Amino acid sequence: MRQIGILGTGRMALRLAAELVRNEHRVTLGSRDPARATRIAAALGPSVSAGTYEEAAAAEAVIPALFLRDDALAVLQRLPLQGKLLIDISNPFNEDYSDFTLPWGASASEAIQEALPATRVVGAFKNIYWETFDQPVFDGNRSDIFLVSDDAPGKREVAQLFERSAFRFVDAGRLANARTVERMTLLAQEIGRRHGWLPRIGWKILGEPWQAGSHDRYAGLLAR
Ligand SMILES: NC(=O)c1ccc[n+]([C@@H]2O[C@H](COP(=O)([O-])OP(=O)(O)OC[C@H]3O[C@@H](n4cnc5c(N)ncnc54)[C@H](OP(=O)(O)O)[C@@H]3O)[C@@H](O)[C@H]2O)c1
Repeated sequence: MRQIGILGTGRMALRLAAELVRNEHRVTLGSRDPARATRIAAALGPSVSAGTYEEAAAAEAVIPALFLRDDALAVLQRLPLQGKLLIDISNPFNEDYSDFTLPWGASASEAIQEALPATRVVGAFKNIYWETFDQPVFDGNRSDIFLVSDDAPGKREVAQLFERSAFRFVDAGRLANARTVERMTLLAQEIGRRHGWLPRIGWKILGEPWQAGSHDRYAGLLAR
């Protein structure tokens, strides 16, 4: 059992808190409005307590469930997060969700890591919509969560925190891959709208063990 702090009391914060409780962890829900956090924590059960952002940030691992457009970077820089595991779920959406506030070649995860160089930033839960939490399985397929970080133990820690989750956690490489993973949300939004699936849309990467040559039915033809 671990103590996790969540900053914010919105759509993702609530679901992450419930998911962490299902995984037998304790959560401090931090809010600008501690009375709101108290009401929500009471509804989520005895493993969830309420407080300020500062109180939530005292936990060993912290999940900011805030938008970058709402000055999340400045909020995080004021908190004592040095040496901590920070699970970054943010996508840098603009106000009307039509695009990102960051340019191609940049990502929210990298911006947070740059602002907090002594914090262990792991990007996670970026490629799903909040509605997926309530039903993470699509036609028998567990929805994938892509983990990105330059801190390999950090990625394993995140996967362990949620090991009883219905999601499948996939190591998706370095932190800079957050540029791609974050923008997968924009693509999913566009595809989802076109096909009437939004917000019931997720990602599943296909893969299986492969041995060189074992599946190359044309190997003989290609030999010189
Ligand atoms: N929505 C999704 O489906 C989804 C999926 C993947 C990732 N994400 C990411 O998760 C993060 C949170 O998204 P969300 O949908 O959970 O957001 P949300 O429901 O709007 O909640 C955001 C929270 O931010 C806090 N906040 C701090 N400053 C604020 C301000 N100036 N204005 C409004 N709220 C402020 C509020 O909590 P307090 O009032 O308690 O402080 C609020 O509840 C974002 O970075 C988003 O990109 C979202």
